[in-house]
Amino acid sequence: MELNPQDMVSYSPLMKSFTFNAYLVAGYTPISRASQLDFYINRPGGMKGYILHLTLRGEGRIKAGNRYITSRINDLFLFPPDVAHYYGRAETSEHWDHLWIYFDPRPYWLDWLRWDRLEDHIGITHLHAPALSEIIQSCFWEVIQQNASNELLSEALAMNALERLIISCFKLQPLSNHQSLDPRISTLCHYITEHIVEDLNIEHLAKQVFLSPSRLAHLFKDQMQETIFAWREKQRVNRARNLLQSTHLTIGQVSQAVGYEDALYFSRIFRHHVGVSPRQYKKRYEHMISI
Ligand code: FCB
Repeated sequence: MELNPQDMVSYSPLMKSFTFNAYLVAGYTPISRASQLDFYINRPGGMKGYILHLTLRGEGRIKAGNRYITSRINDLFLFPPDVAHYYGRAETSEHWDHLWIYFDPRPYWLDWLRWDRLEDHIGITHLHAPALSEIIQSCFWEVIQQNASNELLSEALAMNALERLIISCFKLQPLSNHQSLDPRISTLCHYITEHIVEDLNIEHLAKQVFLSPSRLAHLFKDQMQETIFAWREKQRVNRARNLLQSTHLTIGQVSQAVGYEDALYFSRIFRHHVGVSPRQYKKRYEHMISI
């Protein structure tokens, strides 16, 4: 996808206000020595979702545990949730331009987000072939542009482009199959999303995968870095976002459709994750839903 530099700058995160509560935010950060964006990002606790980076020009310096790693042109870096972010332009380089996507993965993406080369939890992949680098770059731009658009279903299209991007990256991982998610956990994630409206307790869930409730709770936390119910809550909110974006359902109906009997409680949870109430969120999309 060809973009002129003027268009590219409009995707710079400092040019508009971003919220990172959403399940997908993407941008382009062009850093030049002494420019407005020339500072180190420092997020000691990391972020709630994943971040994927691609370097387009110059070099970035990224802290991984106790050491620093250079991100060069065509390097991809994948930061999982809660892993510290400390990075900026490498002092020896005039620029560090990079594309990035912040996202909350769909459950079945999790296996594809396990990369072979890890430096202190941060995944690293280099795009050797120019053709491949072009494909990956154009997926990035597609995600960024769909994400910035206000058109109906643009968020779904952004997720779709991101899914292709993640699959393409996963195909580059020669050993990936060796470290896939525990199959009981992925089975359970599917089960939960299929039964999102039901109020299933841990005993019931544990039975589905032939584990004891406490063993399941441990295994889930170990594999997913959060509790089952925290994870389910996120899935419910994401489903609600989809419904609010693209249907005429009332807030009460959406609340029921994602498993919350009490619409007020649902609104509180929704606001906690998304940053605005379901009503405000729905308003943003109202003019786009055709009758
Ligand atoms: C931007 C950074 C980018 C990424 C996103 C989340 O400000 O430039 O590298 O960290 O925030």
